[in-house]
Amino acid sequence: MTTTSTELRKFVAPEIVYGPGARCLVGRYTRNLGATRVLVVSDPGVVLAGWPREVFSSLEQEGVRYHLFPDVSPNPRAQEVHRGVQVYLQEHCDAIVAVGGGSPMDCAKGIGIVLANKENILTFEGVDRIARPIPPLVCVPTTAGSSADVSQFAIITDTSRRLKISIISKAIVPDVSFVDYDTTRTLTPFLIACCGMDAFVHGIEAFVSNAHSKLTDVYALAAISLIWNNLRAAMESPPNEAARHQLMEGSLEAGLAFSNTSLGAVHAMAHALGGLIDNPHGEANTLLIDHVVAFNYEAAPERFDLIAEKLGLEPTRLAPSRRKEALLSALRQLKHSSGLALRLRDKGVSRSDIPFLARNALADPCMVTNPRRLTLRDVEVLYEQAY
Ligand SMILES: [Fe+2]
Repeated sequence: MTTTSTELRKFVAPEIVYGPGARCLVGRYTRNLGATRVLVVSDPGVVLAGWPREVFSSLEQEGVRYHLFPDVSPNPRAQEVHRGVQVYLQEHCDAIVAVGGGSPMDCAKGIGIVLANKENILTFEGVDRIARPIPPLVCVPTTAGSSADVSQFAIITDTSRRLKISIISKAIVPDVSFVDYDTTRTLTPFLIACCGMDAFVHGIEAFVSNAHSKLTDVYALAAISLIWNNLRAAMESPPNEAARHQLMEGSLEAGLAFSNTSLGAVHAMAHALGGLIDNPHGEANTLLIDHVVAFNYEAAPERFDLIAEKLGLEPTRLAPSRRKEALLSALRQLKHSSGLALRLRDKGVSRSDIPFLARNALADPCMVTNPRRLTLRDVEVLYEQAY
């Protein structure tokens, strides 16, 4: 960990409207952005939960017309982005509103990128590859997890290569994010677990990223604490409004952190896994988190000890040789209580898939900011440990 306070860092975030009822302000803000007809990008589950309908009312009140594009998979595919572009053009839209979790928001970002830059979405893989700004984009997140509503990231599945590409650019930070914890009221315990574990890993990877800064540290540590203290309560009782509120805040803070630090090996390996087996992103992170932390610990022991402190472990009362194990044990307890899959083999991954997964993970842009450098063999061993 080489970062010092003398290094130059930047911090990018959208305008954020936070609190219950924020979703009802979409119409006013969208009209102020100059929109006359918006493409509302969502997915079938979110449409069923009724959240786009509320956004439609808000748009109608302000005289902004809209067209719904709900055809987004849980891990959005390049074809869906290109279909969304066609619909946007056919319907003569001039702005995009995403309503949902990471999938509709990432798809919406992809649609904006292709509209402005007129190339296949898969050509934008990597960091800072977007030349032209996207149309106005506002987001209404309905999960507490992905933080695509505040981040510089979009993750799109390339089905032909069976991998997820990461697109990272400040050009895809939305204009406004309406963070309204009311919208998580319709989530199942399974979705709360997947999204909450994703946000928790965002906090950890942001805090130990080799691009962290004082500004991002504040958000990352606050997020870790909020998610650790509320995820189990929210999973056990989704009507628990206080727990969902805190989770939404934790997710937002984790997003502000990781958007500016990037992520690490958990996400690089989770993207490769999701590309192969198309499983929920939060579940992929959960399968890998303890193994990657065990590998990374020596690269930043003092920072991992600060994380342990946020989990209530009081690492300074332990001998240095026992601190790592205490942190890993807490992470494994959370992993078990999440109810998500624990081993790659439970998800139908075969051992012979590991070299393919490891090659894709090593090439993922998130690997660059991992606090410890990994070889191809290191990545294979981590997948084997998670198998
Ligand atoms: Fe994530």
